[in-house]
Amino acid sequence: MASAMSVFSLLVSSLLLALFSPGAQADVKRYQFDIVMRNVSRLCHEKSMVTVNGRYPGPTMYAREGDRIIVNVTNHVEYNMTIHWHGLKQRRNGWVDGPAYVTQCPVRSGASYTYDFNVTGQRGTLWWHAHIAWMRATVHGAIVVLPAAGVPYPFPKPDDEAEVVILGEWWNADVETVERQGRMLGMAPNMSDAHTVNGKPGPLFPCSQKHTYVLQVQRGKTYLLRVINAAVNDELFFSIAGHTMTVVEIDATYTKPFVASTILLSPGQTTNVLVRANQRPGRYFMVAKPFNGVPIPADNQMATAILQYAGVPTSVVPSLPQLMPETNNTDFVTAFQDKLRSLNSPQYPANVPLAVDRHLLYTIGLNIDPCASCLNQSRLAASLNNITFVMPRTALLQAHYYGLKGVFTADFPDRPPARFNYTGAPLTTGLGTSLGTRLSKITYNTTVELVLQDTNLVSAESHPFHLHGYNFFVVGRGVGNFDPANDPAKYNLVDPPERNTVGVPAGGWTAIRFRADNPGVWFMHCHLEVHTSWGLKMAFLVEDGSGPDESVLPPPKDLPKC
Ligand SMILES: *[C@@H]1O[C@H](CO)[C@@H](O)[C@H](O)[C@H]1NC(C)=O
Ligand SMILES: *[C@@H]1O[C@H](CO)[C@@H](O)[C@H](O)[C@H]1NC(C)=O
Ligand SMILES: *[C@@H]1O[C@H](CO)[C@@H](O)[C@H](O)[C@H]1NC(C)=O
Ligand SMILES: *[C@@H]1O[C@H](CO)[C@@H](O)[C@H](O)[C@H]1NC(C)=O
Ligand SMILES: *[C@@H]1O[C@H](CO)[C@@H](O)[C@H](O)[C@H]1NC(C)=O
Ligand SMILES: *[C@@H]1O[C@H](CO)[C@@H](O)[C@H](O)[C@H]1NC(C)=O
Ligand SMILES: *[C@@H]1O[C@H](CO)[C@@H](O)[C@H](O)[C@H]1NC(C)=O
Ligand SMILES: *[C@@H]1O[C@H](CO)[C@@H](O)[C@H](O)[C@H]1NC(C)=O
Ligand SMILES: *[C@@H]1O[C@H](CO)[C@@H](O)[C@H](O)[C@H]1NC(C)=O
Ligand SMILES: *[C@@H]1O[C@H](CO)[C@@H](O)[C@H](O)[C@H]1NC(C)=O
Repeated sequence: MASAMSVFSLLVSSLLLALFSPGAQADVKRYQFDIVMRNVSRLCHEKSMVTVNGRYPGPTMYAREGDRIIVNVTNHVEYNMTIHWHGLKQRRNGWVDGPAYVTQCPVRSGASYTYDFNVTGQRGTLWWHAHIAWMRATVHGAIVVLPAAGVPYPFPKPDDEAEVVILGEWWNADVETVERQGRMLGMAPNMSDAHTVNGKPGPLFPCSQKHTYVLQVQRGKTYLLRVINAAVNDELFFSIAGHTMTVVEIDATYTKPFVASTILLSPGQTTNVLVRANQRPGRYFMVAKPFNGVPIPADNQMATAILQYAGVPTSVVPSLPQLMPETNNTDFVTAFQDKLRSLNSPQYPANVPLAVDRHLLYTIGLNIDPCASCLNQSRLAASLNNITFVMPRTALLQAHYYGLKGVFTADFPDRPPARFNYTGAPLTTGLGTSLGTRLSKITYNTTVELVLQDTNLVSAESHPFHLHGYNFFVVGRGVGNFDPANDPAKYNLVDPPERNTVGVPAGGWTAIRFRADNPGVWFMHCHLEVHTSWGLKMAFLVEDGSGPDESVLPPPKDLPKC
């Protein structure tokens, strides 16, 4: 292990040298991911947990747009494993996308699988994470895709362009046990015990002085911070005391720059901000704090890290941000989201589909299904169009590619089975769902509009939805029920934000558009892991086109079997 890790560090430092030297060409980047147990202590608790290469968070991957990345994932633990490269489109190459039982069977204990893919037409901050059970709580890390050699950023070049700030969530207990206990009882699983910045909760928690992430800065310099929300279940605000941030990129797409004192990230989202160290040299807290628009039980504690000016003694007590939104400040979130616009420049155009071939309306439900073995003979569930997705025992992409029968049906409905006042008075009866492994079949090159409509079944809540294999444009958003007669007139079809994960407001709706030009089976799910476990997920089956580059590639030889 030790030698594998030092080889790894050597690899990373030589990569960094190569990457940051001008004139580097498109390249092959190789990584070794050893899945190993590692004891980690936080908040006065020590636990043995699953990691990549013994690191928490795991290693940052660096590439340039156009590079090929080859990652050998070798599983040394007793759990099954898969890795997802969140936000990489993997055109025609779903075999490396990673969600367990969707695009691949798990990498079993003792086995290896090589993820081999190109980073084409994308640059910015993305991340990788385990995509099986709740493993991603401890198995995750950043992906930094720099622009191709010689291509500048569409904003002034920062003095330091590679600072990664990963926001996460920590449980004192074993996370897999927490998830399993919730599932067995049919109840909500236990909340986390802390949030973290780069794996560390910061000095406001017990035993945490030494578990504080410190970012060293020099007065007068500008830093590109690559902020990632890797939390399992919480949307998070992020602020830096005394400093503003200029937002320049979300989910690896450039935005029109704007200044913010607080940003919001849903789990799965990334945001690049420019921060100028232009304040009195000192120590300033960087704060991650949950956003909860509705009063549900949640871990509302904030994590802190420190922005430390060079030359300032560590005895100086850091200051907290003077104003941060309240944890229930929905108005702030709405105003922040309204500011997000694609850059939409000649070089980085926003190719928003203007004509829609296929209109979809999916209702998001929290539900209660019968469960004889559960605590109350019932279990919490979740659904899209009243369907609680049931994971198959073999991977959907394989079933599709080889034409295996009986694994799924391709009849996911385009609209909910019943119309009702979705966001009216809370509904307390008829909370059950139907179960199924149902996919929505989409013809190649179709333009799709999907309206995700929250409901007041059990409780309205905000839900960050992530679509694999694509970016989409967020063309509209609103409170209450989507009105197909009047709301489309208010869409932004010029420079809407382009991303891979979007929040659906509690008791509201979000409309997204994309062109289905990536054939394969692509997962779509709530990125709150608690809801994903309850069934808030489905998949699109995008058929092959007829042209030479329009079909799913043949599977790699070492693709794991179920
Ligand atoms: C690692 O943690 C486990 C408990 O989670 C403990 O039993 C074991 O002794 C620890 N190992 C080391 C090397 O500290
Ligand atoms: C992946 O790594 C494992 C463990 O180091 C090694 O045994 C295996 O040969 C590697 N696979 C490939 C394809 O390099
Ligand atoms: C990646 O790019 C290389 C070079 O263009 C090409 O040979 C290879 O087929 C590509 N791989 C995938 C999975 O698209
Ligand atoms: C969850 O919380 C309950 C109540 O505090 C506790 O009894 C239980 O042990 C916790 N479960 C896990 C897996 O830590
Ligand atoms: C937010 O919570 C505070 C107390 O925690 C409460 O006074 C306030 O009314 C809430 N605001 C909204 C918009 O729900
Ligand atoms: C389930 O059972 C627990 C413990 O008996 C109880 O406190 C809770 O209210 C019940 N929940 C529901 C939804 O019935
Ligand atoms: C839906 O419910 C809301 C809140 O109770 C109410 O204001 C609205 O009028 C209802 N809409 C319809 C069409 O019944
Ligand atoms: C969802 O399906 C279940 C089971 O068929 C049914 O009882 C329930 O009324 C349906 N709910 C909605 C909102 O369609
Ligand atoms: C996809 O559809 C657009 C029009 O909607 C058309 O311009 C384009 O040529 C199509 N592409 C393919 C590969 O069929
Ligand atoms: C790992 O995955 C395989 C293939 O799906 C399955 O048969 C096996 O039960 C899983 N093992 C564990 C420990 O979950």
